[in-house]
Amino acid sequence: MNEQQRLDNQRVNSPDKKSAKDYSKYFEAVYIPPSLKDAKKRGKEEVKYHNDFSIQKEFLGMGTGRKFYIRTYGCQMNEHDTEVMAGIFLGLGYEVTDQAEDANVILLNTCAIRENAENKVFGEIGHLKALKREKPDLLIGVCGCMSQEESVVNKILEKHHHIDMIFGTHNIHRLPNILHEAYMSKEMVIEVWSKEGDVIENLPKVRRGNIKAWVNIMYGCDKFCTYCIVPYTRGKERSRRPDDIIQEVRHLAAQGYQEITLLGQNVNAYGKDFDDIQYGLGDLMDEIRKIDIPRVRFTTSHPRDFDDHLIEVLAKGGNLMDHIHLPVQSGSTDVLKIMARKYTREQYLELVRKIKAAIPNVSLTTDIIVGYPNETEEQFEETLSLYREVGYETAYTFIYSPREGTPAAKMTDNVPMAVKKERLQRLNAVVNELSAAAMKKYQDQIVDVLVEGESKNNPDMLAGYTSKSRLVNFKGPKTAIGKIVKVKITDAKTWSLNGEIVEELQQVEVN
Ligand code: SAH
Ligand code: SF4
Ligand code: F3S
Repeated sequence: MNEQQRLDNQRVNSPDKKSAKDYSKYFEAVYIPPSLKDAKKRGKEEVKYHNDFSIQKEFLGMGTGRKFYIRTYGCQMNEHDTEVMAGIFLGLGYEVTDQAEDANVILLNTCAIRENAENKVFGEIGHLKALKREKPDLLIGVCGCMSQEESVVNKILEKHHHIDMIFGTHNIHRLPNILHEAYMSKEMVIEVWSKEGDVIENLPKVRRGNIKAWVNIMYGCDKFCTYCIVPYTRGKERSRRPDDIIQEVRHLAAQGYQEITLLGQNVNAYGKDFDDIQYGLGDLMDEIRKIDIPRVRFTTSHPRDFDDHLIEVLAKGGNLMDHIHLPVQSGSTDVLKIMARKYTREQYLELVRKIKAAIPNVSLTTDIIVGYPNETEEQFEETLSLYREVGYETAYTFIYSPREGTPAAKMTDNVPMAVKKERLQRLNAVVNELSAAAMKKYQDQIVDVLVEGESKNNPDMLAGYTSKSRLVNFKGPKTAIGKIVKVKITDAKTWSLNGEIVEELQQVEVN
């Protein structure tokens, strides 16, 4: 359902004088459930850009004396959506808290990518029941990708009556209205639009920290890999206009941010939806590289759309980091075909060859799914051999998880779970081996580390990341936090590096 449909629905259902007491009709206006079928549609409709977000006067002060708490699951996209929702809450006068027990509103910003991600959220929903019993005025909301799924909404409706609000990824800007409805009604407020999606430019944001920032460059995904729920939960691929992105990055640079990560489900498709200009990710990176911000990253790349111009621009280095996350999913051309990844093993390897030739220092990481329906032992071994051939520094590895509504969920599967688990272990053994080998190379080297703060396990140590996104723990002065400093590696472990500070760097020069 889109904004127009919602308005039509409200008109039809708005209680007139005669039926003013017929609340069932009133609630129809705030009961807009998801539809995976609608979410799948991709029409020719132009993307609408909005610059008109504002908090309605009647809602100002809604949060006075109230606190909000948001728990975020899933990918960077969700992390960034949480920053937007935090911005809206502050605009409404709420205060932030990091304790669920102190909050007057709790939101779970959820992820639907695999079944265990969903189970975690349902576990948390269960836990919150006791808190709601203690504090009946508490509002609890479920948003993010899970709310875009019919089965999830139905389950919450059936079993979790202590939830007050469910709203979707396209409805974040409606948070003030949704909260208002939830305060007014005793019923669950459900507003999930299953649409292709617009771009809303002027939403407020409260970023976590002042060192690194996420910058959305596009939303949605049109790839429809056969296992994946994202195109259904996030709508169609739609790019932000270059000027808006560049302005945001300039602003972040002026505020002293040290690193930005450009975000999209498939950033290499950036600009493909523009029909007035020819402008892709390579062009955007070429402009951003001239902005005075020390580190620029992007995620996530799809191998299919990774073009030569982008490689050429990345090879210019400077503030463009020498690390590319390039999900492969499988090393078998046959499996890739059933996954609808739209490249072969050979095409992927050719892309890797081109990237390595242009950026000899590059570090590559990846995502891999094992145990795809009917994956054979030979096909799995092709994944192992590809892993070694590329020489990834590390990888996120997953057992295939069927997602309702996706084509793969309908496939019969002859691979027993025990075999899938064993394959994951075998793959992880290779991942660990190569990670340890890659880390060994850092021994006694001096690396640039962007210092993010105290080390998690030892407040006397500092922690930060190398240009290739490797974690470094080291002893150094607290004044180094927020800066890029030179650290000598004294101990290279499998997943992190230990070191000692050598000197503090001046701001990196960017040409
Ligand atoms: N847009 C990115 C990331 C998508 S989600 C991309 O295309 O690369 C992150 C990772 O989760 C994917 O790369 C994939 O490896 C994994 N994933 C997605 N759906 C999955 C499923 N149904 N089961 C197991 N892993 C999955
Ligand atoms: Fe999912 Fe494929 Fe889109 Fe990535 S590219 S979000 S894996 S459908
Ligand atoms: Fe999860 Fe949605 Fe991101 S399904 S991985 S939170 S786009």
